Order: sequence, then C-alpha cells, then structure tokens
Amino acid sequence: MSPKQLLTTILIVFSTLSFIKLMLLTHSASSSPARPGRSAWDAGGSGNGTAGAATDGLNAKEFALLRSVVAARAPCGLLVFGLSPQLLALAAVNDGQGAATAFVTDSAEDAASARRVLAGRGPGGSAAVHRTTYQDPAGEAWALLRRARASPVCGRPTGTVRKSGCRLALTSLPREVLDARWDVVVVDGPSGAGPGEPGRMGAIYTAAALARAAGGGAVDVAVHNMNRTVERWYAREYLCEDNLVAAKGRLWHFRVAAGGPPDAFCSTAPVQIL
Ligand SMILES: *[C@@H]1O[C@H](CO)[C@@H](O)[C@H](O)[C@H]1NC(C)=O
Ligand SMILES: *[C@@H]1O[C@H](CO)[C@@H](O)[C@H](O)[C@H]1NC(C)=O
Repeated sequence: MSPKQLLTTILIVFSTLSFIKLMLLTHSASSSPARPGRSAWDAGGSGNGTAGAATDGLNAKEFALLRSVVAARAPCGLLVFGLSPQLLALAAVNDGQGAATAFVTDSAEDAASARRVLAGRGPGGSAAVHRTTYQDPAGEAWALLRRARASPVCGRPTGTVRKSGCRLALTSLPREVLDARWDVVVVDGPSGAGPGEPGRMGAIYTAAALARAAGGGAVDVAVHNMNRTVERWYAREYLCEDNLVAAKGRLWHFRVAAGGPPDAFCSTAPVQIL
C-alpha cells in the first residue's frame, strides 16, 4: 500500500468513526429498530392520516402540524419526498382549483400501492407519483457535507436546480418536479433509518434549492425525523435556523423566503462540527 493510499484509508476510517460517534451521541441508548415489513398499505391504510404506532410514520401531533402547513397554502403546489398512506392523505388536503401534488419515492411497492389508491379515488385529491433512486447512503452524509461546503457549485443555486453541478442536487428527478414551482415541500423520505440506507441529504438540499430558486413567495418546507443527525445537519446547513417557524415532535417547519445572501443558503453560517 502506498503512503497515499494509506492516508486515504485512514481518512476514510476516521470520518466514518466520527460519523458513527455522532450518530451514537444523538441516538443515546435507543437504537432505531429495523423497519418492519412495509404492509401499511394493506393494514387498513385508508389514507386518513393515522399511521400504525409500529411504523416510523408521523405521530398525531406531527401529522396535525403537517396537515395545517398544507391546508394553509391549499390549493397549492405540494411536493413530497416520501410516500406512505399517511403522506398520501395530504393529496386530499391539497384539493381545489390549481392544486398540484407530487410524491417522490424510491419504493416500487409504495409507488404501485399509491397509484392503486389514487386510481380508485377519482379526480378529488389527485397526485403524481414519481419513482427515483437515491445514490447516497445516510452513512455518507458527513463526507458529502464537507465536500459540499468546499464546493462553490453547492452554494446557493441561482439558476434552475436541474442544471446544478452539486452532487447533492437530485438532478435526475423528472422535469415535472424540478421545473415546477412548489409552495410546500415535505421531506419524509427516503428512509435514512441507518447508515446503509438511502439518506435524506439530497432531498433536503434539493428542497432548499427549489425553494431558493422559486422566486416569488415564501416556500414552506417541512422535514420529519429531525431527531436524527443527518436531518439536523442538513436542515441547519440548507434550510437555516433563522427560517424555523414551528416544530412538533420530530417535524420541523421552515419558511424559506426569497432574498438572503446570493452565494449561500443561510445568512448566518452554521456551527462548524469539525
Ligand atoms: C427518533 O425518534 C423515534 C421516535 O421517537 C425513535 O424511535 C428513534 O430511535 C429516534 N432516533 C434517534 C436517532 O434518536
Ligand atoms: C379512517 O377513518 C374512518 C372513519 O373516519 C375509520 O373508520 C377508519 O378506521 C380510519 N382508518 C384508519 C386507517 O384509521
């Protein structure tokens, strides 16, 4: 092994260790259990926003806040990263003339189930369902964040998100998603439940970039699972503490307005972890 390779290996090991340490610190004693079989769609998930207690869904208070964020803007453009019977219920909240709802999921099963439910529902509460794949596991979050901080293309995008050169921008999403104007963006996917599972780095970055690129009115961005390290880091970095307007449990509601510095997402730099 050459000295350079050795150095690289040591660096990788150290950044992995620091990440695991941070995860453990925030986890405290409770380790997140493996997600049970995704049977929420069959187990009476009729779409009125009540998730089974066993799932990692929103609890009643979190869902009430999310519902009120959507209801306050409806009919509007609503983009949701993540898809579950509970989240699909938001499509019915965002109803009316000019409403547009889109879900982005990496699960073929959830996409198929949601399309079945939507097909049986008729025109009210219609929604588009887009499949995507997330390339980066949650365990890469720290390394990606450090690289993004050092990369000018990851600074606040001025043009369309579709043409962003930042690794964190989900540029493979369809144009219907990247070129539309969204009033509310919800980040409750992908899973991000463990270091090996797809993380929400790209979803949070893309939500922030879409909101900043939108021009016009403020965009409401709601992020779930804010008790997890990756969600905290990325929301702080790109959605900014200044923009936090409400929080219930693990659901945080940011309002991202136009304006702010031209070359950064937040006007106050986030606390450096290293
Ligand atoms: C976040 O909260 C949920 C529900 O309270 C819990 O199951 C999970 O272990 C927590 N995760 C972390 C990283 O603290
Ligand atoms: C949905 O609401 C109906 C009545 O409002 C109720 O009977 C049903 O059990 C609810 N579904 C779920 C999954 O809670």
